Amino acid sequence: MKRSPLRSAAVATGLATALVLAACTPDTSVSSPDGRIRATVTLNEAGSPAWQVEVDGRPLIAPSRLGLEAREANLADGFSIERVARDRRDETWTQPWGENKILRDRHREMAVEMRNPEGIVLTLRVRAFDDGVGFRYEYRTPADSLRITDERTAFRFAQDGLSWSIDGNYDTYELPYRELPVSAVERANTPFTFRIGSLYGSIHEAALYDYPEIHLVRQDSLLFKAEPAPLPDGVKARLAGSFTTPWRTLQIGDRAVDLINSALILHLNEPSKIADTSWIRPQKYVGVWWGMHLGTQVWTMGPRHGATTENAIRHIDFAAANNIQGVLFEGWNRGWENWGGNQQFDYVEPYADFDLERIARYAAEKGVELWMHNETGGNIPDYEANMERAMHRYAELGVHTLKTGYAGGFRGGYLHHSQYGVQHYQRVVELAAKYRIMLDVHEPIKETGIRRTWPNMMTREGARGMEWNAWSEGNSAEYLCTLPFVRLLSGPMDYTPGIFDIYYERAKNDPGRIQWNGDNSRCEIKTTLARQIANWVIIYSPLQMAADLIENYEGHPAFRFFRDFDADCDWSEALQGEIGDYIVVARRAGDRFFLGAGTNGEARAIVQPLDFLRPGVAYTARIYADDPDSPLRTACRIEERRLSAADSLRIEMLQAGGCAVSFEPVGE
Ligand code: NOJ
Ligand code: CA
Repeated sequence: MKRSPLRSAAVATGLATALVLAACTPDTSVSSPDGRIRATVTLNEAGSPAWQVEVDGRPLIAPSRLGLEAREANLADGFSIERVARDRRDETWTQPWGENKILRDRHREMAVEMRNPEGIVLTLRVRAFDDGVGFRYEYRTPADSLRITDERTAFRFAQDGLSWSIDGNYDTYELPYRELPVSAVERANTPFTFRIGSLYGSIHEAALYDYPEIHLVRQDSLLFKAEPAPLPDGVKARLAGSFTTPWRTLQIGDRAVDLINSALILHLNEPSKIADTSWIRPQKYVGVWWGMHLGTQVWTMGPRHGATTENAIRHIDFAAANNIQGVLFEGWNRGWENWGGNQQFDYVEPYADFDLERIARYAAEKGVELWMHNETGGNIPDYEANMERAMHRYAELGVHTLKTGYAGGFRGGYLHHSQYGVQHYQRVVELAAKYRIMLDVHEPIKETGIRRTWPNMMTREGARGMEWNAWSEGNSAEYLCTLPFVRLLSGPMDYTPGIFDIYYERAKNDPGRIQWNGDNSRCEIKTTLARQIANWVIIYSPLQMAADLIENYEGHPAFRFFRDFDADCDWSEALQGEIGDYIVVARRAGDRFFLGAGTNGEARAIVQPLDFLRPGVAYTARIYADDPDSPLRTACRIEERRLSAADSLRIEMLQAGGCAVSFEPVGE
């Protein structure tokens, strides 16, 4: 078999020399359009592939192994390089919704085709963007199916730095963040965000289909290996004879907020497979939800049942009166007695005190979208057996939005984030698309940008959301300042923001309040009210909830922000921030702008230039800020000012505070 000059050199002198020789033998490097980022693929003396990344000529990822291990084929070594194909793209594309509806994909591509004596052809496709790198494996050999037993993909950081991540767990992402030296992390899920020297970066994946998720597992000081979630028999993935893996991604920026403004993960996904997307529309929503988490309502039938016809009508009226497009009622369907038991839910039959048809009719009359909710308890076989009948029924009722949930372990030893889970979540996305249903998935698989290809996959949880504040130590302001730089890099989150009753006074005054998920007697919201409002802007979700009980919004002057807010934005930018410290985000919807700022446990004053506003336009700015004259976190100062792009805004935030601003062109 022909050996590439690259491999012959490596055999003689080892990997280090091969890296040097790579420059004068077949060019196996690809650089970003601006030339700052360079990714290089090499083979060592055993014909095993490796990669490295340099930024401005300095190593960020030192040579690190690549390859896959499979029972039926050698996808790891003995390779020589057959050819290197190159491509480039500079194209602007649009999406029906998103942080930015217009995006520019500008990258250089290199496909390194490798062959080994067994006749295996494995291609490493690498794309270099100005804001990072992505690569994936492509296996095109027609053969019987393969069992992938391991992935060798590694990331050897060239030097130590600081990192932010959650622990690696193949069943849940609802874990606290750890700020740790890179060298002190044993295992982490992705996005894995870091600062090394003056650079910020984040490792994640794009286009995760029919394959398990990966974790980073430390091998030695700065070397991490991608560890895919296993199936019950230890195999990582069962694949057809021909496959492509998800992209392994590395976002890179000079500022922490550059990571948020990067669309690299979306660029690495395919265009929409849904031709007519007219039915896919971002919306704001309220629902019967928070009461159950607080313990003042329940999901099951009885005197404290939340999802009653009367309550539903009240919510629909509230939504119609407050420019809110959707309503969600958890506990509408039979079977909640089985949650945590045999996990058998009925996805079609409502409880007797929830007149589904009347509610659907009433919502339609009022111009409000009725959502459905399917808690599966993780009972996948039962859900798969019933979901088509359910979606068919929802379509009949005129429903276009479904919240799903997987609060419970999967059966048969399957893990939520394994190939089995990924396949299931995807089946639901595709079935929902058939019935013109948008999805909000709780306890989901991580977002990897598939919303580009399946734009009905609107939002998901996949981190500690608001619910944790109802029955645990809760989410700190620092957590909320970390979330945008880690979990939110992957895509939208249904955090369910916006609790106004910060101290849960209404729940505490309810003598019948229950403890259903641990001691809730000392729980409360850890931030100021202004920060709760700011989260509607900061935490991007095309389905954005006002999560509090509607009676806490009724008549509250600060609720005007949500009434004015538009979940269907056209443009977004994270303007300034540091991981775990503070964040400022601006969005535009039509001719209006919204700004959200938040700080951690420290009070902070910052100056924000407003040069993102349209030049020459005067805006009425409604500012919802912390009140320094009050010791209460419920205190919020609302002020109206006339501002323009030439102005700067001084934002003063109390501890765990924030600020939200809506900008409306004067005269509207
Ligand atoms: C967990 C979800 O995150 C929450 O939103 C939902 O209310 C419960 N499961 C019940 O489905
Ligand atoms: Ca959850």
